[in-house]
Amino acid sequence: MLEKTKLYTKIVGYALVMLWTELRLAIRGAIVRRQAALFGSLGGEERSRNIVIVGANFAGYRVAQIIAKNLSPRSPYRVVVVEPNSHFHFTWVLPRFCVVKGHEHKAFIPYGGYLDGVIKGSYRWIQDKVIDIDRNTVRLQGSEESIPYEFLVIATGAGVQDGLPSRVNSTEKADGVKLLQGMQKRLESAKTVVVVGGGAAGVEVATDAKDLYPEKHIILIHSRDAVMHRFGKGLQKSAREGLERLGVELILEERVVNEDAASGVVTLRSGRQITCDFFMNCTGQRPLSDVVATLSPSSISSSGHIKVKPSLQIADDSLPNIYICGDVADTNTPNPNARSAMRQGTIVADNILRAAAGKTPSYVYENQWADGVIKLTLGLDRSVTHLGDGNSELLFASKETDEALMSAMAWSRMGAKPFEDTYMDAHTAETEADISKS
Ligand SMILES: Cc1cc2nc3c(=O)[nH]c(=O)nc-3n(C[C@H](O)[C@H](O)[C@H](O)COP(=O)(O)OP(=O)(O)OC[C@H]3O[C@@H](n4cnc5c(N)ncnc54)[C@H](O)[C@@H]3O)c2cc1C
Ligand SMILES: *[C@@H]1O[C@H](CO)[C@@H](O)[C@H](O)[C@H]1NC(C)=O
Ligand SMILES: *[C@@H]1O[C@H](CO)[C@@H](O)[C@H](O)[C@H]1NC(C)=O
Repeated sequence: MLEKTKLYTKIVGYALVMLWTELRLAIRGAIVRRQAALFGSLGGEERSRNIVIVGANFAGYRVAQIIAKNLSPRSPYRVVVVEPNSHFHFTWVLPRFCVVKGHEHKAFIPYGGYLDGVIKGSYRWIQDKVIDIDRNTVRLQGSEESIPYEFLVIATGAGVQDGLPSRVNSTEKADGVKLLQGMQKRLESAKTVVVVGGGAAGVEVATDAKDLYPEKHIILIHSRDAVMHRFGKGLQKSAREGLERLGVELILEERVVNEDAASGVVTLRSGRQITCDFFMNCTGQRPLSDVVATLSPSSISSSGHIKVKPSLQIADDSLPNIYICGDVADTNTPNPNARSAMRQGTIVADNILRAAAGKTPSYVYENQWADGVIKLTLGLDRSVTHLGDGNSELLFASKETDEALMSAMAWSRMGAKPFEDTYMDAHTAETEADISKS
């Protein structure tokens, strides 16, 4: 009981710190806008010193927001965001939308709203991919442009080879929507489905599929002795019960050694073979650290993450102006999650604002147990929320009535009106205007 009380106290503390962070951002942003109104601001063409951000999902978009809102109106710096995706990818709902129809578009949040109210000229947005980085510039894949930087933020996150259910391997929303619909159709016409990987994505997609299609044979294969093994025992048990309740067949301590797409035969390490007509791979998220492979090979850890200092500067003394945040950073987060990615983004933004003003980047990042709060769906109408600090854990079971889960909330948080995707046009127009000026 005492442990649980401590846990509750920590939750309150964490929430207060988060509130203070938002308040601080809002106050500073208001001051900057006031200064701009009184004394004018520099336009994009006069801001020649670039703070380049590579990747703008949870971590990078947050960095862009804070820096663009907090740069002084007469700052010579501006933010340059390079992001290949046309929209923000709301990863949390991807497993659900691989199963349930009609919500696909909600996983793609229009960019722009998060930067509402920033001073014109404080940022430039480029839809492209960075393919190489040297000591002074980043090189883009599409335009082949080289962009000089004074500060660089790498927030490239993680990815998988096969895309869905974990990631959308397409940059355009329209294609992403089609990829999700393709998954739904393949599932609908399948009789036997093999899902590999008993992390959150695997458990969610398997329970959703079995809940929507009770007659189908859904098999979940996981290499460990429990699903959700990165989390507390309580969540492991809840997840297992959720799978059993619906009748998902669970195969533990097995690995898929071969999957023959043509015949549908899945071979396990034990030699066991399963024939299925739909195979979903929910394993193998890998940090996308290739962009620094030539610049600083010694900074890439054995797991593929980019090593960092507590300030989230890259762990390479010769590159003090490069910062790393989110899933690609080697922060030893037990389970990578959006909250810690955004908190890392906040630290990076604050440190760059300090460094750009000639001060020491003195903010440090530490993992916090409350970042790892997870809400796991166990079928279409229920979920369990888990909080744990290693000593004790709290579990809350809830009824879920919204098929689209937290999509609407995510849109609002990102400054977009659910689910109106008109923003991109206005945003593109403004970005083009900025580009033509520079
Ligand atoms: C299926 C699934 C469900 C999840 N559910 C939850 C959940 O419920 N709660 C939770 O907290 N977390 C959840 N997560 C984890 C969460 O999505 C990640 O922790 C989070 O996305 C990390 O944010 P990030 O910005 O570091 O990386 P990402 O979100 O991976 O974003 C990286 C960005 O960088 C861009 N990029 C990559 N390479 C380049 C390049 N070379 N040049 C330019 N841009 C590039 C990408 O296009 C992308 O936009 C889930 C993850 C998955 C896969
Ligand atoms: C699943 O995806 C991961 C990462 O993309 C890959 O390494 C692995 O080989 C895939 N597994 C199967 C059985 O296809
Ligand atoms: C997604 O990835 C798969 C597997 O790597 C590939 O075959 C497919 O062409 C990719 N799709 C898109 C739209 O990039």
